Amino acid sequence: MSATATPPDTPSPGPSLLAAAAGGPLLLRQLFDADTGTFTYLLADVSSRQGVLIDAVFERHDRDLSLIRELGIDLVASIDTHVHADHVTGSWLMREATGCAIGLAAAAGAENVTLPLRHGDRVVVGGRALEVRATPGHTDGCLTFVLDDRTMAFTGDALLVRGCGRCDFQQGNAHTLWTSITEQILTLPDACQLWPGHDYTGRGATSVAEEKAFNARLGGSATERDFVGHMEAMQLPHPRRLAEALPGNLRSGKPREAVARPSWAPLERSYAGLPELPPSWVAAHRASLTLLDVRSAEEVNGPDGRVPGSVAIPLAELAARLEELPRDRAVVVVCHSGSRSALATQQLLQAGLPRVANLRGGLSRWAAEGYPLHTSAEDHPEDHHAEHTA
Ligand SMILES: [Fe+2]
Repeated sequence: MSATATPPDTPSPGPSLLAAAAGGPLLLRQLFDADTGTFTYLLADVSSRQGVLIDAVFERHDRDLSLIRELGIDLVASIDTHVHADHVTGSWLMREATGCAIGLAAAAGAENVTLPLRHGDRVVVGGRALEVRATPGHTDGCLTFVLDDRTMAFTGDALLVRGCGRCDFQQGNAHTLWTSITEQILTLPDACQLWPGHDYTGRGATSVAEEKAFNARLGGSATERDFVGHMEAMQLPHPRRLAEALPGNLRSGKPREAVARPSWAPLERSYAGLPELPPSWVAAHRASLTLLDVRSAEEVNGPDGRVPGSVAIPLAELAARLEELPRDRAVVVVCHSGSRSALATQQLLQAGLPRVANLRGGLSRWAAEGYPLHTSAEDHPEDHHAEHTA
């Protein structure tokens, strides 16, 4: 699998991936979509910085992408455990953003898959790999991804915490699922950590030993007949997004129409949730923007300098002075580090300004990238009033 280039405008200096991984060789992050109870996993090999995303959710794309960028992970693939019926995958969006591969069971026959997966394949992530195991029964294309050292497995909906995926549509079959779980998952070491595709009651992970003992459908002394009887007696409503999810996933999450992105700027949402712009774009478009500097008057007029033409309103006064901002221009908020301006960005969005973004990295990054700051000796801002000299 080919590695992808690090995207431009990656936040810098990035944190150490080793630190983010708590000093271990692998980073694992479990992300959650509360709307559908779906878990997404980001797994990265620290030494190579390569990573893989498992079961991405379309609506959480910005969140996932910002985490990948903030940690400086080179995403090699976005893979799905199966064709989901309750949400649309984020794989196509992730490939558009990073160039990563799109992985799904070859048996699913979905469009836009660049990494068709079969039982026994390995998804290589830097120096590590996920072994692909076919675990059909919930759907006929379900896969479980097992880490090379068998310390963890991503089971999708084949095996959930104390439960399992339904078998009543999408070519589901309870006998097949029994065989998959007992032969491909519960034969892993007892200490193998199992990471499910869903949970609806706050249970994030389990282990082979726990599910052998306590799984309500197949644990303890349950037999195949007990399991099949349980599964066939369940009467579940169909997932509410079924009609949208299945065709969407058979396109790997490619929307039928172009995704509407804000047209005024190439906004990127930080993992903290705020729209941001890189200094390079802001510098190139400065003439058409209002740059709002929310530092104190002492800072604005001090030796750090200011961006020529910026409007100065200290953060503490912003709420009372909103009317000083021209409504016909987009606002990019700046401060020293991007921290106070993040709060101001939030305030302006809440106040209903339609086009607002934070300057990523603040003026310190602006200056580090070589963009001009003027000191008060060169530029004469009015200390306490908004002004616009551009
Ligand atoms: Fe599912």
